Amino acid sequence: MGALDGRTALVTGGGRGLGAAVAAELAAHGAHVGVLSRTADDVRRVAAEIGGTALVADVADRDRLSSVLQRFGEADVVVANAGVVWPLGTFAGVDLAEWEAAVEVNLFGAVRVVRAFVPGMVARGYGRIVTISSGAANPPGMPSANAYSASKAALDMATLHLARELSGTGVTANAVRPGVVDTDMQTFMRGHPADVVGVEFYERFHGLHERGELVAPSTAAAFVVGVVLGDGNGEVLDIRTSR
Ligand SMILES: NC(=O)c1ccc[n+]([C@@H]2O[C@H](COP(=O)([O-])OP(=O)(O)OC[C@H]3O[C@@H](n4cnc5c(N)ncnc54)[C@H](OP(=O)(O)O)[C@@H]3O)[C@@H](O)[C@H]2O)c1
Repeated sequence: MGALDGRTALVTGGGRGLGAAVAAELAAHGAHVGVLSRTADDVRRVAAEIGGTALVADVADRDRLSSVLQRFGEADVVVANAGVVWPLGTFAGVDLAEWEAAVEVNLFGAVRVVRAFVPGMVARGYGRIVTISSGAANPPGMPSANAYSASKAALDMATLHLARELSGTGVTANAVRPGVVDTDMQTFMRGHPADVVGVEFYERFHGLHERGELVAPSTAAAFVVGVVLGDGNGEVLDIRTSR
């Protein structure tokens, strides 16, 4: 018997990295999991591995996302995990269209997905919403990832206000900061030179990698699913301070 037997879950950004690990962990607890991201091969592979449903969509593409989610149906658990850390560089130096596109994915994409499921969760009296935040959402944030830091801070507030509204409904909303996780996102960040991202950023993330201090996706996923299994509401939980 799994704690999520009979439950349906949706994980955005589930094709690789933390999202794929969260999808696997939810499935291990008995949930049927919809795995959503843009790269069809990734979502099909992860969905096949866990007996879930492959959903190919871009959370920034409102119309396509809406029709894919409608076809999927209701979900009891939503983990809004899809996120991008680009553009990296200075506030005025990065391309404005990229700054806006990042917010479109990290903030609007997450809000769109969560909103699609809230009414059904409230009507059924059960739901678990987790947004994936970042330590970058809190000062000093990640100065070389301005759009990322800003969008994660805004997503934290959207999650906390939603949580308050949901109080007493059986539906919870929490934000999780998973630590510095060993995924493609970290590889991408280490691929930028110090003169683009700044010496502090460069040394911090190269140092964590070289010292073997990155968090394994499975460890971060277990933390996320621990939040799903609990009944806390309106929290911003950080793996680094919760262990
Ligand atoms: N890695 C870290 O150190 C770290 C730290 C704190 C927070 N986080 C957060 O954890 C979450 C997962 O990050 P990760 O490290 O696993 O990143 P990742 O390895 O880059 O994976 C990101 C996932 O999101 C999907 N995705 C990206 N843009 C999308 C879009 N527009 N629509 C749908 N799916 C999209 C990607 O697939 P496609 O490209 O195929 O769409 C991929 O499956 C993010 O929200 C990130 O901000 C990560």
